[in-house]
Amino acid sequence: MERLDKFLCGSGAGTRSQVKAILKAGRVTVDGKPETDGSRKIDPAQCIVTLDGETLGGKRRMVVMLNKPAGFVTATEDASERTVMELLPSQWRYLDLKPVGRLDKATEGLLLFTNDGDLLHRLISPKKEVPKVYYARHEGQANSEDVTAFAAGLTLRDGTVCLPAQLEPLGAGESRITVREGKYHQVRRMMASRGMTVTYLERQQEGTLTLGGLPRGQARALTAEETELLERSV
Ligand code: URA
Repeated sequence: MERLDKFLCGSGAGTRSQVKAILKAGRVTVDGKPETDGSRKIDPAQCIVTLDGETLGGKRRMVVMLNKPAGFVTATEDASERTVMELLPSQWRYLDLKPVGRLDKATEGLLLFTNDGDLLHRLISPKKEVPKVYYARHEGQANSEDVTAFAAGLTLRDGTVCLPAQLEPLGAGESRITVREGKYHQVRRMMASRGMTVTYLERQQEGTLTLGGLPRGQARALTAEETELLERSV
């Protein structure tokens, strides 16, 4: 048994205070009867709860895409830094969304979140080799020897061996890099191992997903089709 207000929060209906207002406004029914008492205990497996006529299915599985701006750390909480969680709409706060892997504080671009632990682990597993595509601005110029070294699998300065990766020089001090794993500061360290310091980094693609026209700092839930495609790719 669970309190109705808690169930509503967990279903993504809104924050605690939003749910209070939703209940007061008479927008919720339990087994077909209007219910305004948030403290009422319900068994989500046994009864049907609706909000504005739509049935709520409990803690729904959600996958979210954020276009991360620089200046936020990828963590669910941090004592001194702003976290990526602050960029998610408040009504998703009770859905237990977790970042899928991490982007550095200075890195921008595509960051996924999900409350599906199994999907999260599959997405970050190096065994699944999910391609992640980055745009980098950097000191120096990537040449064909760098391309070959990336393709062969780089050894970083601390001895860490990377899986084969793709480096595409785009122009003076600009490259596209595709990696299939997610080691700490991986792209920056790979570029540094070839003498190129990264000055700007953006993730443009992860697996089947690109940012599309999502503005920086904005998040959106994936559609059912996007989620299914992603799920099938891992
Ligand atoms: N590689 C990095 O160096 N930083 C990131 O944020 C992501 C990949």
